[in-house]
Amino acid sequence: MSKITAAITAVGAYVPDFVLTNKMLETMVETNDEWITSRTGIKERRILKEEGQGTSYMAIRAARDLIAKKNIDPKEIDLVLVATATPDLLVAATAAYTASEIGAVNAFSYDLQAACSGFLFGMSTAARYIESGRYKKVLLIGADKMSSIIDYADRATCIIFGDGAGAILFEPNEEGMGLQDEFLRSDGIGREFLKMDAGGSILPASQETVKNKQHYVYQDGKSVFKFAVSNMAGVAAKIMERNNLSHDDVNWLVPHQANKRIIDATASRMGLDPDKVMINIQKYGNTTSATLPLLLDDYESQLKKGDNLVFAAFGGGFTWGSIYLKWAYNS
Ligand code: UT7
Repeated sequence: MSKITAAITAVGAYVPDFVLTNKMLETMVETNDEWITSRTGIKERRILKEEGQGTSYMAIRAARDLIAKKNIDPKEIDLVLVATATPDLLVAATAAYTASEIGAVNAFSYDLQAACSGFLFGMSTAARYIESGRYKKVLLIGADKMSSIIDYADRATCIIFGDGAGAILFEPNEEGMGLQDEFLRSDGIGREFLKMDAGGSILPASQETVKNKQHYVYQDGKSVFKFAVSNMAGVAAKIMERNNLSHDDVNWLVPHQANKRIIDATASRMGLDPDKVMINIQKYGNTTSATLPLLLDDYESQLKKGDNLVFAAFGGGFTWGSIYLKWAYNS
C-alpha cells in the first residue's frame, strides 16, 4: 500500500462586511494613508461589528462555506481544529462550539494558539492525524477577531490588524499530494515584544488592568519586524534547500500577511518573481490565524494539481516556520 499523505481538498472563507479604510483611520489616530501603504502594504481591513458575536461567528461561516462548496456531510468530519489568538471565551474551546454549530456531531475538537503561526502549526497537527490512518476528514479553521483586543487610539497596532476566518479540509491522499515537509520553530524570548499583558494567569483582569489598557495588544513593531524578516525568509529558504527546490520548482509562496516588506524580503531570499507570491494584505490587513486560508481561498482558482506551495509564517511567542505542500486538485 502506498504511503498516506495529508492533502488539502477544500477551502472556505468568511470576512465581515464592514470595511475600515486607511482614510477612516486618519480620523481616529495621527496617521495617513501614504504612511500605512508604504510601510505595510495595507489599504483596508474588515471589522466584525455584530453585537455580542466573537471569533466563532466567523469560524462557523468559513466552515459552512467550505462544506457547501465541497458538498460534504458535516457528520463525516472527524476533527475540528480552530487556530485562534482571540477565542470566544477563555477555558471553553471555540472549536467545540463551532463544530456543534456546523453539525460536525461525530467530531472531537479543540483550539490551537500560536499567534500568527497558529494556522501553520495547525496544518502540521492536522496532517499528523490524517497520516496516522485513523482519521479521514480533518477541518482546520483559522479565525481571529483582532478588533476585540486592539486599542483604536494606538496607531502602532490599529492600522495593522483586521478580522476574518478561513477553513481548509485535510483528507488522505495516495498519489503523493499534500504536506511534504515542515520546519517549525519557536523562541520564548519573543513574548516581550508582542503580547497582551492582562487577562491571562500572570495578570488576571482587574479594575487596574482595565484602567491601564492592558487588555489590548502591545507590539514593539521594529523589534518584531527584524526577527520576522530574517526568520521567515530563513525557514522558507531552508525548506527549499532540504527538498532540493529551486525557485523554478516553487509555484507559489503562501506567506503570512503581516507586512508587505516582510513578504517581499522572503520572496527575494527565495528568488521568486512577484507573480508567484500570494498577497491580499491590501484588503484584509493582518488577520493573525486567518491569513493563510484567506490567501488559499482568494487564489484557489489559479492553483493546479501538483503545484508546489511553500507556506511561511512568523508570529508572537515568537513562533515561526515553513511548510512545503503539493496542491491536490484543479478547481
Ligand atoms: O504578525 C505578527 C508579527 N508582526 C509583524 O510581523 C509586524 C512587524 N512590524 C511591522 O510591520 C512594522 O514595524 C510596523 C508596520 C508595525 C511599523 O513600521 P516601522 O517601519 O517599523 O515604523 P517604526 O515603528 O520604526 O516608526 C517609524 C516612524 C516613527 O516616527 P519617528 O520616530 O521616525 O519620527 C513612528 O513614530 O513612523 C512613526 N509611526 C507612524 N506614523 C504614521 C509609527 N506608526 C505610525 C503610523 N502612522 N501608524
